[in-house]
Amino acid sequence: MVSVLEERNFPVETLRLFASGRSEGNLIPFRGSPVRIERLTPDSFSRDIDLLFLSAGTAISREYAPIAAKLGIFVVDNSSCWRMEEAVPLVVPEVNSDALRLEKKIIANPNCSTIQMVCALYPLHLRARIKRIIVSTYQAVSGAGQKAIVELESQIKDLAEGNPVKPVVFPHQIAHNLIPQIDVFLENGYTKEEMKMVNETRKIMGDDSLMITATCVRVPVYIGHSEVVTVDFSEKISAAEATEILKSAPGISVIDDPDRSLYPLPILAAGRDEVFVGRIRKDLSCENGISFWVVSDNLRKGAALNAVQIGESLLQKKYLSCDGF
Ligand SMILES: NC(=O)c1ccc[n+]([C@@H]2O[C@H](COP(=O)([O-])OP(=O)(O)OC[C@H]3O[C@@H](n4cnc5c(N)ncnc54)[C@H](OP(=O)(O)O)[C@@H]3O)[C@@H](O)[C@H]2O)c1
Repeated sequence: MVSVLEERNFPVETLRLFASGRSEGNLIPFRGSPVRIERLTPDSFSRDIDLLFLSAGTAISREYAPIAAKLGIFVVDNSSCWRMEEAVPLVVPEVNSDALRLEKKIIANPNCSTIQMVCALYPLHLRARIKRIIVSTYQAVSGAGQKAIVELESQIKDLAEGNPVKPVVFPHQIAHNLIPQIDVFLENGYTKEEMKMVNETRKIMGDDSLMITATCVRVPVYIGHSEVVTVDFSEKISAAEATEILKSAPGISVIDDPDRSLYPLPILAAGRDEVFVGRIRKDLSCENGISFWVVSDNLRKGAALNAVQIGESLLQKKYLSCDGF
C-alpha cells in the first residue's frame, strides 16, 4: 500500500505508519526517506489526519475504524468487517464510486476475488444485463497474508529436503496441492469466501437479483488470483462484442490469442495494476452465455491499489482537499 501511494504520486503531506508492538520501530521507506512504524493504540489518531488505510484484520477494524471516523477521518478498510453494513459504501471505483458520500467516513474495500470479477462483469452487465454468474477461483496464498507466503515457501523447501510438512495457516499442505476451502464453511455448504463473492458482487453492482454461485480454491501460487467466470445474460451478446467492450473498459487488459497460446497468467499479472481477461468465448451450455478467464494481482487491484483508488475518488469528489489534484 505504501509503494502504491508512492507510485501513483498520491498527494501525501505526512505519512504515518502503524502496526502492532511486533513491528514498532521498524523503518519503511517512503519517497526516499525512512518512516518509523508506531504501535497502534486507541489514542494514535488526531483530527489532522485526513485518510486512514486500515489493513490489520477484522478485530482491529471493528475497534479502530469508528475511533477514526468519529474524528472526521475517512477510513478505507481492507477487512471484511464493514463490507455488508448497509450504511457503508463498498467501492470498486471503476464500478460504483458514486456510492461515496462526504458523511460516510468508513468505506469498505471489497474482497480481492470480488474486485477483479466485478471489474470485468460490470461493463458487460451495462450492455446485456447479467442474470446468472458461475465462478470458480484459483487463489494465491498471499491472499491469506504474509504468514501464508512463508508457509508455502517453507513447505516447498521441506518437501525438497524430504522433511515432513506441518500446515498451520492452511488446513492442509498447500505446496504441490490445491485446497477447495477458503475461510470457514457456513451452514449452506459454501465457505465464507464464496458467500463474500455472492453478497459483495450484488452490493457493488447494485443488483440483489443477480444469481451467483462460487467455488473458491487455494492454489500454490504466490501472487495473482485467477477465475473462470461463466455468465448468462438477459440479452444476446456475442463473444466478439464482449471482447470489444472489455477492451475499452477501465482497468481491463484483454490478452486473448489462442492460436499463439496467449491468455492471462498469474506470473504475468503479479506486480501489475490491470485486471487481465482472456479465453473469452460463447458458452455452449446456455443461449446467452459467455465464459472467460480473469487474472489480477490480489495484493494490488485486489487490495492496496483499489484502496488507494478509493482515496483518489475522494480527492476527485473534493471530499478530501488537496491543492492541485
Ligand atoms: N492479502 C490480500 O490479498 C488481501 C486482500 C483483500 C483484503 N485483505 C484483508 O486485509 C487485512 C490484512 O491482510 P494482510 O493479508 O495484509 O495481512 P498481513 O500480511 O498478515 O498483515 C497484517 C498487518 O496487520 C498488522 N497488525 C496485526 N495485529 C495488529 C495490532 N494488534 N495492531 C496493529 N496492527 C496489527 C500487522 O502488523 P505486525 O507486522 O506488527 O504484525 C501487519 O502489518 C485482512 O483483513 C485481510 O482479510 C487482504
